[in-house]
Amino acid sequence: MTKKAVKGFSKLSKDGKIEWIANEYLNGDENCIHLLKSYWHNDKATQKIHDEFIENTISNFYLPFGIAPNFLINNEIFCIPMAIEESSVVAAAAKSATFWMERGGFKAEVLSTTKIGHVHFAWYGDYEILAAFFESIKHKFLEGTSHLTSNMRARGGGIKDIQLVNKTDLEPNYYQIMAKFETCEAMGANFINSLLEEFSKIFQAELENSSLSIDDKKVLILMCILSNYTPECIVRAEVSCNIEELTEGTNLSADEFAKKFEQAIHVARIEPYRATTHNKGIFNGIDAVVIATGNDFRAIEACGHTYASRNGSYSSLTDVEITEDGIFNFWIEIPLALGTIGGLTSLHPMVKFAHQLLGNPNAEQLMKIIASAGLAQNFGAIRSLVTTGIQKGHMKMHLLNILNQLGATEKERLEVKSYFETKVVSHQAVVEHFCKIRGINQKDLTKN
Ligand code: MEV
Repeated sequence: MTKKAVKGFSKLSKDGKIEWIANEYLNGDENCIHLLKSYWHNDKATQKIHDEFIENTISNFYLPFGIAPNFLINNEIFCIPMAIEESSVVAAAAKSATFWMERGGFKAEVLSTTKIGHVHFAWYGDYEILAAFFESIKHKFLEGTSHLTSNMRARGGGIKDIQLVNKTDLEPNYYQIMAKFETCEAMGANFINSLLEEFSKIFQAELENSSLSIDDKKVLILMCILSNYTPECIVRAEVSCNIEELTEGTNLSADEFAKKFEQAIHVARIEPYRATTHNKGIFNGIDAVVIATGNDFRAIEACGHTYASRNGSYSSLTDVEITEDGIFNFWIEIPLALGTIGGLTSLHPMVKFAHQLLGNPNAEQLMKIIASAGLAQNFGAIRSLVTTGIQKGHMKMHLLNILNQLGATEKERLEVKSYFETKVVSHQAVVEHFCKIRGINQKDLTKN
């Protein structure tokens, strides 16, 4: 049946929205209505906070919130909060953290914290005229926005640089006002975007009031927006140990393990197919902490992937070196534009908790924690891949998920888990064995 378009959906109450959806898309299914409402928070004030994060909220969507303990970072121990749906990620992070805790832990350092944004515009005259005019009015951008930057300046941040960029080699008449910012503990999107919009107004007003010719006064402002690519907001985290200390829990010699590990990283550096999966594994760890701490994981991912391509081909975000005297050094260098104030950080109760758990870090400390989580995740993945393979660990969790889907009792879970200790887990094999011990036919399963 063709569905009806809706007008004024956003004006309906939450109940009204659910009712409309249920009637229009779900044949009035009471179970769906019940499901949606069962995910509302019991406490009305908490639910109201969630309702107001986005538009047209009808319910909440849970993600598991797990903890990876034992992260020793710059000689301080952290329990890292991770919000993620994928099994094995938290376990792998925790395992790597414990492994490295016994080998000196993670050393992390923030290399830079500059954010960037642009006013993109078209101008039709001579570049030299524009460049001279821009230089003559440059101070006005700072003066005209001082009321907007005073708080940030008081905290040690503000506008670091403003330049005219000529992009006409890429696109006729295309220029940018490119500005760099220090946004301290804030991710800074609102600060930067407000300033860029102000820059464009100042630029247009100054052009209008200038003595340039009528033609040279013509400018087309295309857009004012921060860039989520922040190659000057970089954190580095590293671990190192003697290669002899690497082989715990593997059946490889120190040399074999170190060589295989090195080769695996090398492949991820030269082969984009592998680099994509390699970096995906890194972002398993990074995104989970970024989400738990209320930051924007889409921005973090987009930036990380662009950075991974900065040399012209998509490549690994981690690297390794084995020195002649047998020291294994493994590191990540990654742009992470994070905030510890603003946005969700003071609103979402679980995000507030995550910050509290981490000791209310500032933005630079959070960069170090999250880079370490990404490095730990990658170490765990590569270590599994070059030794046992990843399926062993994955399948253990997969088995639990299948047993949950089947509604297995505690006794059945124990029986199935023990049976699969020495067998390959597949959905079909688990279902078959489960039906056997319950004494039912597979086709009766849906009646569970
Ligand atoms: C799975 O989510 C992540 C891995 O594929 C990462 C990797 O291959 O490095 C295990």
